[in-house]
Amino acid sequence: MEPDKSTDHNIYFAPMEGITGHVYRSAHAKHFSGIDRYYLPFIAAHATHTMKNKEKKDVSPAQNVGLCAIPQVLTKNADDFLWTVDELTALGYREINLNFGCPSPTVTSKGKGAAFLGEPDELDRFLESIFEELQRRGLLITETMEAGDGCNRNTHAGKGGLHVSVKTRLGVESTDEWERIFAIYNRYPISELIVHARTMRELYNGETHVDTFGEILSRSRIPVCYNGNINTADQYRSILERFGEDPHFTGVMIGRGLIANPALAQEIRGGDPLDAASLRLFHDEVLAGYQEELSGDTHVISKMKELWWYMGPMFLNAEKPLKRLRKSKTVREYRAAVHEVLKCEIRR
Ligand SMILES: Cc1cc2nc3c(=O)[nH]c(=O)nc-3n(C[C@H](O)[C@H](O)[C@H](O)COP(=O)(O)O)c2cc1C
Repeated sequence: MEPDKSTDHNIYFAPMEGITGHVYRSAHAKHFSGIDRYYLPFIAAHATHTMKNKEKKDVSPAQNVGLCAIPQVLTKNADDFLWTVDELTALGYREINLNFGCPSPTVTSKGKGAAFLGEPDELDRFLESIFEELQRRGLLITETMEAGDGCNRNTHAGKGGLHVSVKTRLGVESTDEWERIFAIYNRYPISELIVHARTMRELYNGETHVDTFGEILSRSRIPVCYNGNINTADQYRSILERFGEDPHFTGVMIGRGLIANPALAQEIRGGDPLDAASLRLFHDEVLAGYQEELSGDTHVISKMKELWWYMGPMFLNAEKPLKRLRKSKTVREYRAAVHEVLKCEIRR
């Protein structure tokens, strides 16, 4: 029998600012399986060397019990990055991910996120500074990561070692920019490159550049993970068929596909596909978490409606209850609409 390749490679839950905070992550890890690592929405490293309360709570080990959480940092300043590293390693984190992928104008107008890729010399200097300093401190672990490494598990706390991974796009304006950018990455002891196979200008739209990803993989010295538009088990398999044999290929990161179908990774790994009963339990836990965390029905419902923007299309003939859901103003109205949506058939 052919070995089951689906378990050889990692599946990471993508960071999604405003969506995959600790309330969502904890409920997901409790009700669905199949995720090797949950990447946390970015922490913006500030020159003031402080973290917002919301960020502190999200990275706190108490809010990440029972799952493998990897924090992500957004910055273009080496000192600010190193300050944040100190804070995160003190909490026991052994992998920190750098965000060179965010295309949001509030981020890119400051030259951060994906916009940093448009300044390759500056990017090079930034990486040189941080890796020199981490090496000087004897903090850096340079060997390749194994699946399950890099987790915020208490057993790792205090060991002091650190992996720095990068989440990146292919370039700012054009895919032609990748060679210059990835030649820079290749010079540093980055533990893993997670490649969202689009440019900054493409935001989240259209097809991904799978061929370019293949070229990057074939030339990379660093382990590489694929990200972008994996919404079904078939799409996962087609990426695995194409790249699964490459020794530098580590697996995939999935974002919107998992928000739409929280059982996607579980299904890919041979577990149960999505069903209304487990979605209800998961949903109720997320709702209860937001009710505890946020004040007022309006805030709570608006968070939940954002999830349904992705989950709604998973249900067949659900237009009417989904419309009621979108129009709901109280948690009571909202719950009644969810009850009706969950009676509809799930798209397979
Ligand atoms: C609402 C939203 C918030 C996101 N927040 C982050 C973030 O904080 N950090 C990050 O690296 N990527 C962020 N992303 C990008 C995703 O992690 C992922 O790279 C992208 O959605 C492509 O993967 P997908 O097609 O599987 O969704 C965000 C995407 C969306 C749609």
